[in-house]
Amino acid sequence: MSNINKVKYRFPEGFWWGSAASATQTEGAADVEGKGKNIWDHWYEVEPNRFFNGVGPEKTSQFYYKYKEDIQLMKEIGHNSFRMSISWSRLIPNGVGEVNPKAVEFYNNVINEFIENGVEPFVGLFHFDMPMELQKIGGWVNREVVDAYEAYAKTCFELFGDRVKKWFTHNEPIVPVEGGYLYDFHYPNEIDFGKAVQVGYHTILSSARAIKAYKEMGQDGKIGIVLNLTPSYPRSENPADLKASVLADAFFNRSFLDPSVKGEFPQELVQILKEEGFMPVIEDGDLDIIKNNTVDILGVNYYQPRRVKAKENLPNPEAPFMPDRYFDNYVMPGRKMNPHRGWEIYEKGIYDILINLKENYGNIECFISENGMGVEGEEKFRDETGIIQDDYRIEFIQDHLKWVHKAIEEGSKAKGYHLWTFMDNWSWTNAYKNRYGFVSVNLDKDGERTIKKSGQWFKKLSENNGF
Ligand code: BG6
Repeated sequence: MSNINKVKYRFPEGFWWGSAASATQTEGAADVEGKGKNIWDHWYEVEPNRFFNGVGPEKTSQFYYKYKEDIQLMKEIGHNSFRMSISWSRLIPNGVGEVNPKAVEFYNNVINEFIENGVEPFVGLFHFDMPMELQKIGGWVNREVVDAYEAYAKTCFELFGDRVKKWFTHNEPIVPVEGGYLYDFHYPNEIDFGKAVQVGYHTILSSARAIKAYKEMGQDGKIGIVLNLTPSYPRSENPADLKASVLADAFFNRSFLDPSVKGEFPQELVQILKEEGFMPVIEDGDLDIIKNNTVDILGVNYYQPRRVKAKENLPNPEAPFMPDRYFDNYVMPGRKMNPHRGWEIYEKGIYDILINLKENYGNIECFISENGMGVEGEEKFRDETGIIQDDYRIEFIQDHLKWVHKAIEEGSKAKGYHLWTFMDNWSWTNAYKNRYGFVSVNLDKDGERTIKKSGQWFKKLSENNGF
């Protein structure tokens, strides 16, 4: 019997229901069939102690071997779309040069399997996983890596562009900047704001160059970028707090959002970089490429808000420069938390982002490309029938979807909602600590999959196109 009359929040026809994942976090098979090493394989080799319970990226959730089963499960829980990423170091083991035929075979099989099962593959080119050979020459700090990335992107379009019609140049490009060059949670673990800026700049340039190549090759799909837009809320309306939030926004959101959508950099940020002496090296012609190659579509990842206030104390002039020389993070009393991840839950943030895109970014076509809740120790919620009763996840999704729905009613061009993530996967340095999936993965039983209650609920959500 259909629930059609009970649906209170109905979404536009053809809404994309699905989830997202990345290559390094799910494929496993990290050192087989010609795959080259990426920074995660390397970092784990040299510092396994940096990963929760010492679990590394070599096996992750075995999508490489179990993709058929996984795609069946996606279909079963109502996916009509799914975002994956290609592992650069699997496809081109040294980052440049030879293409690995086994990787071509694997990605062809995966893409075909998706299409045969009515799940549209959205494909990302870079999800935090720099090939190690390219990191050895400096990674995104080195402009040669931008050339290598463009060549890699072209290879992907040539190989898979006949079937893949939604491409994403980068996933959360601010994160490798923060993790690798400011806050020590990605390799190469440097603290160097100058490099951070160069990395950010080269990433943006690489995105624009991939978009340019895509158009020049006459590809007929859409190409975009996925950004983690973390709205900056001031502690108060006091002008000093407001200024702090404008600057935090320029550093962490507009740094990538403005060039990606408008083809230009936020003036507030440029001014600070000039004043502080951190302007990146820009070559002739770069800014035109960035100006003329903006995205067709924007993926929005939303997990948490950023709350800021004016600085309480003068910064230490001897300390390495950090963006928070201009603001302090603010802990709002009474905030709602996901204690496992240490992130605030603020559902309205997702609406604020969509309305901001509508009002200030030409109402660009977009979708929620990640949103989700990582929970530690989910096994304790498994009932006698073997199903994890993750009602908290269902509630989390519903509470966010209500705001997405409202934004759409008010004119936002949000086209879909993808949860992070389909099945429990390897969350970088958190490894398998927090579980995010619709489907649980039992690491003690060769990665056995079991659909959680949220997965069953998602099926109905997708069938009814609302709830
Ligand atoms: C996003 C990433 O930052 O959030 C994912 O695109 C990541 O790769 C997800 O796994 C959840 O964050 P975390 O740090 O808990 O894995």
